[in-house]
Amino acid sequence: MKKLIFLSIALAMASVVVLSLSFKPETVRRKVDATAAKDSVGSVKAFKLVYKVLMSPRCMNCHPSGDVPLQGDDSHLHTMNVKRGVDGHGVYSMRCSNCHQPENDPGLHLPPGNPKWALPPANMRMVFQGRTPRQLALQLLDPKQNGGRTKAQLIDHMANDSLVGWGWHPGVGRTLPPMSRNAFVAQVRLWIDKGAYAPGVKAK
Ligand code: HEC
Ligand code: HEC
Repeated sequence: MKKLIFLSIALAMASVVVLSLSFKPETVRRKVDATAAKDSVGSVKAFKLVYKVLMSPRCMNCHPSGDVPLQGDDSHLHTMNVKRGVDGHGVYSMRCSNCHQPENDPGLHLPPGNPKWALPPANMRMVFQGRTPRQLALQLLDPKQNGGRTKAQLIDHMANDSLVGWGWHPGVGRTLPPMSRNAFVAQVRLWIDKGAYAPGVKAK
């Protein structure tokens, strides 16, 4: 009798072990897989659209890989020896605000305008030019490289910053980014809400 009780306890314990080994981890693993795959695909898809805007001349011209702003739809180097300077507002006599007024100057090839007109500062250069989608996604998410922003602040910048807004009011003779600002911000949100995945990583 004692043997029988012992046997059934042992059996019960064994089946608990078997159950937890076989079923539980599998269900958990499957669940994570399903959501991760779905999110990463949707998230990456959204970022690829975001990337197209970031790399459009209206954004990239102020986010160059060097210390000279870029000009025009062909993103050539800014003429007249204009440079970033420590604070992004230029050097000595070549300060951005000498030529760039708070508003666009009306007319072809006249300086576009905004009260904050500048490049990002030398210690936080926020380069877009030349970055792959993966590199740029990781950079935008890194507070050490994005101006100390949380994800929420990043969305807010895209949605409300007036320099970003200038991209959709660039003055005469300059093309617009490839989608509306609302559509752009919607994709930024999707990218982040679905997990802020960087392109190029396979779902685990
Ligand atoms: C001496 C005058 C002058 C100074 C100083 C100057 N700019 Fe410009 N900038 C211009 C003019 C003029 C244009 C328009 C050129 C055109 O449309 O052909 C321009 C165009 C640009 C554009 C192109 C916008 C676009 O998307 O095509 C950017 C970006 C820019 N400037 C950034 C800067 C920054 C940043 C500074 C300061 C670091 C600066 N500029 C200083 C005169 C100046
Ligand atoms: C006149 C120059 C200028 C233009 C045009 C411009 N930016 Fe910027 N951008 C800046 C400066 C300067 C900063 C840094 C200021 C700050 O941190 O608030 C910045 C910061 C940013 C940031 C902060 C985070 C990071 O890592 O880069 C984002 C995102 C951004 N810009 C997106 C855009 C987008 C999108 C466009 C085009 C629709 C654009 N910018 C056009 C000058 C510009």
